[in-house]
Amino acid sequence: MKLELAIFDLDGVLVDTAKYHYQAWKRLAAELGFHFSEEHNERLKGVSRMRSLEILLEVGGLEKSLAEKEQLAEKKNRWYVEYISAMDESEILPGALEFLQEVKAEGVQIALGSASKNARLILDRLHLTGYFDFIVDGTLVSKAKPDPEVFSLAAQVLKVAPEKCVVFEDAAAGIEAGRRAGMFTVGVGSSQILHEANIVIPSLDQASFKSLTRQLPEHP
Ligand code: BG6
Ligand code: MG
Repeated sequence: MKLELAIFDLDGVLVDTAKYHYQAWKRLAAELGFHFSEEHNERLKGVSRMRSLEILLEVGGLEKSLAEKEQLAEKKNRWYVEYISAMDESEILPGALEFLQEVKAEGVQIALGSASKNARLILDRLHLTGYFDFIVDGTLVSKAKPDPEVFSLAAQVLKVAPEKCVVFEDAAAGIEAGRRAGMFTVGVGSSQILHEANIVIPSLDQASFKSLTRQLPEHP
């Protein structure tokens, strides 16, 4: 079975931005008067900005109006953008660039499937944009992961059947989205968190695309 499309999540798979999201959320929680732990933060991975804020407020036991929520989400994003504006190529995760190059050399198309509205900014900043045949970011989809929309849209635009696609994800919500899209899934990170994936690898530098392809089951 030959794969035709590899879809990558951005934050936590290709670039080390997950820590900046966490820093900004933690800062917001502190301002609102409560501690936001790394364990709590796990629930925000892969989830849209507004939904992330709602989870954070739930953790803090706070209720806010829609207008207040919009202001808080904007504030978090201002801090986040400030953090990522100082980023350079050293924050591309180990092995990610080589992995993208290998996928390309195999003649497999590459798409981005990210919930982030800042995805293009990050890809441009790190000179990664040119690797992608199509980019799905938070501005193109209305339904957040674990809804499959972000991945299904990429496959639809590039005219590839879901069973010829493989999704690379660091978030449990993203693995669920990939599975619901009918695609193969590779978890990048902890197997405790990503146990629903077809395969889990600690990071992209611990694997080659070719060897992963061989380890995938026959059907997603
Ligand atoms: C995802 C991150 O990629 O993007 C989430 O895993 C984040 O943590 C989401 O909330 C939305 O990002 P942004 O940049 O639009 O706030
Ligand atoms: Mg992610």
